[in-house]
Amino acid sequence: MEKISARITGGKTLKGKIGVSGAKNAVLPVLASTIMLGGETTLLNIPSIGDINSMVRMLNSLNIRTEYRADESIHILNEKKVRHIAPYELVTAMRASFFVAGPLLAKTGFAKVPLPGGCSIGLRPVDIHIQGFEKLGVEINFEHGFVEFSALNLKGNQIDLPFPSVGATENIMMAACLAKGETVIRNSAREPEIVDLANFLIQAGALIEGVGSSTIHVQGVQSLSGVKDYFVIPDRIEIGTLLIAGGLTGGDIEIENVNSSYLSSITDMLTEAGLIISYQDNNVRCSFNGDIHPVNIVTAPHPGFPTDMQAQMMTLLTAASGHSVVKETIFENRFMHVHELIRMGASITIDGQSATVKGGKLSAADVKITDLRAGAALVLAGLIAEGKTTVHGLHHLNRGYYNLIGKLRTLGAEIDL
Ligand code: EPZ
Repeated sequence: MEKISARITGGKTLKGKIGVSGAKNAVLPVLASTIMLGGETTLLNIPSIGDINSMVRMLNSLNIRTEYRADESIHILNEKKVRHIAPYELVTAMRASFFVAGPLLAKTGFAKVPLPGGCSIGLRPVDIHIQGFEKLGVEINFEHGFVEFSALNLKGNQIDLPFPSVGATENIMMAACLAKGETVIRNSAREPEIVDLANFLIQAGALIEGVGSSTIHVQGVQSLSGVKDYFVIPDRIEIGTLLIAGGLTGGDIEIENVNSSYLSSITDMLTEAGLIISYQDNNVRCSFNGDIHPVNIVTAPHPGFPTDMQAQMMTLLTAASGHSVVKETIFENRFMHVHELIRMGASITIDGQSATVKGGKLSAADVKITDLRAGAALVLAGLIAEGKTTVHGLHHLNRGYYNLIGKLRTLGAEIDL
C-alpha cells in the first residue's frame, strides 16, 4: 500500500450536497456468501476500497470469477469447482476474510482458513464463530495457524451466542442456509449490515426470518442461486462521519440517498450534541447552531451507539463546551486516536475503557493514522485545528472509506495530497 499523507488547512466551513458509498461491512459478508450461490450475481453500489478489493481477490483465489466493473458494480460467476483453502496472505491482509468459512463449509463441506490475527483495535478472537459451527456438526482442527473445518452434512441446531458478535452471526447464518433442518441463532447481532446480508440471501432462495432482532431462524435449503443487480445499503458510518464534518465546521451539508431507518442511533447522539439533523425525502442534513454540547457515550451493539463512530464522535467532543465521557465497550484497544488528538492540543484523559474529553481548541500537528476509524477522527480534527495538519498513513483510511478526502474537498475543505 502506498504511504500517502494529506495536508489539511483548518477553519473552512463545509457546505453542499454529497452522495454516500455502499456499506463496506455489508459488501464483505455479501461477497463471501456468493461462494454458496451458483451461476451469475451482480452487486451494485460497491465502493472501490482496499478491503473489498481484498475480498474480490479472495473469491478469485477460490475459483469464483469475480470482477469489479467501472460502474461501481461487481460481477460474479460461480460455475467451477470451488477451492476450499483460503490463502494465508489474503486472510492476513483483511481479517474479515474469515467470513468465507461458513459459506465454504455450506458449499463444499470443507474449509481451511488461516486463523485471523488480531489488529490494532484488539485481539479479535473467533471463538464464537467456532462454537457456532461446532453446534452445526462441524469438526474443527487447528493446525499450523490454520483452522480446518469439515462437515459432510451440516445439521441445523439452536445456537446461543455468548455475545452478539456481528461476524459470528453472519458466518453462522450463512452456513445454516444450506444445513439440514432449522437453525435458531439466539442473542444474534442486529446490525443493519446483517439485515442487508439476509435480504440478499433471501433473494438467492434462502429461508431466513427474524434478522434484525436478537433471534434469527434459518430453514436450510438444497441450493442457492445467483442474484441479479443487488443494491447494497449505504454506509451508515460514512454518513455519520460526514455529518460530523458538517457540524464540526459550522457548516450545512446534505447527504443524498441514505436509508434513514437505521441512522437514529447515530443521529440521535449528534442531535444531543447540539447539531441540527433533519431528514428530507431520502436525504439527511446537518446544519450547525452554535455550541456543541458535551455528551456521554457508551458504545454498544446495534441499536446502541456504534463503536465504529466512537473515534469520530470524540473529535466532535473536543470542540464541545464542557466535559464528556466516552466508554468503549466493544473493543479493548480502540483509543488509538486519543494520543494523536492530545498532540493536537485536545484535553483527554483515559481511565481503562473510558476517556474523559474536556472541550477546547485544537492546533495543527503532524499526526499518524493507526486504524481506519482513528484515521477518520484525525482528518475531522484537521478540519477544525488552527493551521495546517498533516495526516500520515491515509492508506488505512482508503481500506474502508471511498474517496473521503475528495468528498470533503467537494464540500469546501482545503486538503492537499
Ligand atoms: C464487525 O467486526 C465490523 N467489521 C467492525 O467494523 C465493527 O466494529 C464490529 O463488527 C462491531 O460492530 C465488519 O463487519 C467487517 P464482532 P466483527 O464479532 O464481526 C469479540 C470497521 O471499522 N469477539 O461483533 O469482528 C471481539 O473481539 C470494523 O469497519 C469475540 O470475543 O465484530 C470484539 O471485542 C472494525 N469472539 C467484540 O466481540 C468472537 O468469536 C465484537 O466483535 C467474535 C468477536
